[in-house]
Amino acid sequence: MRLRVLGSAAGGGFPQWNCNCANCRGVRNGTLKARARTQSSIAVSANGSDWLLVNASPDVLQQVRESPGLQPARAPRDSGIAAVLLMDAQIDHVSGLLMLRERSTPLPLLATPEVLSDIATGFPLTRILSHYCGVRVHELPIDGSPIRPEGMPGMEVTAVPLHSQPPPYSPFRGRPRPGDNIGLLLRNPATGARVFYAPGLGTLTPELFDLMAACQAVLVDGTFWTEDEMIRLGLSKKTAAEMGHLPQSGPGGMLTALRRLPAGTRKLLIHINNTNPILIEDSPERAELTRHGVEVAHDGLEIVF
Ligand code: MLT
Ligand code: MN
Ligand code: ZN
Repeated sequence: MRLRVLGSAAGGGFPQWNCNCANCRGVRNGTLKARARTQSSIAVSANGSDWLLVNASPDVLQQVRESPGLQPARAPRDSGIAAVLLMDAQIDHVSGLLMLRERSTPLPLLATPEVLSDIATGFPLTRILSHYCGVRVHELPIDGSPIRPEGMPGMEVTAVPLHSQPPPYSPFRGRPRPGDNIGLLLRNPATGARVFYAPGLGTLTPELFDLMAACQAVLVDGTFWTEDEMIRLGLSKKTAAEMGHLPQSGPGGMLTALRRLPAGTRKLLIHINNTNPILIEDSPERAELTRHGVEVAHDGLEIVF
């Protein structure tokens, strides 16, 4: 199986269109050692031509352009995107659905009932899409049972419910339900190899840690280095926890957990906010990650498992 990182930045991307923080300014004018990144998405394939798009980023068109493998060109109108799976109903993970409307058949869409309800109400994407290609919904179970997505033989995925918040426009904001946010366990049935992907991870329970410890690679929430990163920079009033993200540094931070994973597990951070110092390749924070064998995902990175 092949996993391709299409977008490794959090909502807003890097640099963010209106942001003049030190990171965004530095990457824009070329004075910092850092690479630009598009917004959060990966694609997974077992046969190299039919892909499961995991999250539909606002940058999906640019991401497809930069990933020739996602355009197998078998017919006058064709795409390697066989289906889309959503992990939450956040703008950076769902608004790209609107860009996929030119299909001639309904878009196969895998999501939990909670995410499907948010994108039918608070952000009524499926209602809008019904005037174009429409969607063919497959509800994702969150009881731990694996599914084999249709049209993508040789792939097994399991949704793992996570503790977090639905988006601000959800009727359930402040009253989170299991299924609002999921992590994804990807398994190659031929080899048994597993990869865990969770771009939004607010709480790391012991059960989740055990699941991660049984994987070949984990790609997890790299949004913030510190809990008060956005507040200290004067860019927001929200803490990392309030946004549903576990910061990397500090006691109980993501780095403490990643360091306890088995030595053979490949550890990558993804969904990185533009304020995070780990984006700067010669920063002390990046050096700390490297010392602990933790990688920072970038657009175009591929994992074969
Ligand atoms: C988040 O995960 O917190 C989002 O990236 C926020 C957003 O897209 O505005
Ligand atoms: Mn996000
Ligand atoms: Zn910025």
